[in-house]
Amino acid sequence: MKILAIIASPRGMQGNTGRLLEEVLRGVTEAGAETEIISLKTLNVQPCVACDVCHKTGVCNIKDDYESIKEKMLVCDGFILASPNYIFSVTAQMKALFDRCNGLIHCMALEGKYAALVETSGGGGDDEVLTYMRRFVNTLGANAVGGVGSPMAGIRTFPDEVTLYDNSRKLGGELCCCIAEKRRFPEQEAFISDFKARMSGLVDFMKDFWPFERDYWEKNRTR
Ligand SMILES: Cc1cc2nc3c(=O)[nH]c(=O)nc-3n(C[C@H](O)[C@H](O)[C@H](O)COP(=O)(O)O)c2cc1C
Repeated sequence: MKILAIIASPRGMQGNTGRLLEEVLRGVTEAGAETEIISLKTLNVQPCVACDVCHKTGVCNIKDDYESIKEKMLVCDGFILASPNYIFSVTAQMKALFDRCNGLIHCMALEGKYAALVETSGGGGDDEVLTYMRRFVNTLGANAVGGVGSPMAGIRTFPDEVTLYDNSRKLGGELCCCIAEKRRFPEQEAFISDFKARMSGLVDFMKDFWPFERDYWEKNRTR
């Protein structure tokens, strides 16, 4: 089982979010899965320029690291998104990646995969950011198993660390369990199913302009 962790802090794994992600990954490793960490800090993911080429060809026109990240997302069994809270949202690095995933979202190409979420903040608002990241996961067609978020207490420290780290390791283990047993999340399925009807309808409406996505849905409409 392969779990891909994507961290979007400008401090990479050296910051608070990296510290919390370490514990989630410990849970993943203890469950026997393989891990790979991608730090957006060291990669080049430019903002989307709305050229629509991905909808037409299935490949982004911007020549940077996005396509290789996309391939890793497509082949992993599960993934972890980790971001600090920047003004009630994810960092610009993570948002750039989200936007570049627009083609994957139109195809809901990660349907059947599972994700876990990690967030840290200076002083709170953690649930808002975790909810936003969960919404992104669901628009890809994937299930969000859960998330851990916390304000910091200092550099790479948190209030009530014992409980937080314990929950983080449990989340990593839970991600692997959900993948192994193909666990269902009925409350997310309702959103995913509505969103799927919307994306399928959108691509059908644009079928003369977006041949890649038209063909993708023609092959996968019955899934
Ligand atoms: C540009 C910027 C914006 C931030 N916005 C918020 C915020 O809106 N709310 C908050 O509680 N903390 C905010 N913070 C603090 C970070 O979320 C917090 O320090 C986080 O743990 C940093 O994680 P890192 O060490 O992994 O980068 C902000 C920090 C920066 C640099």
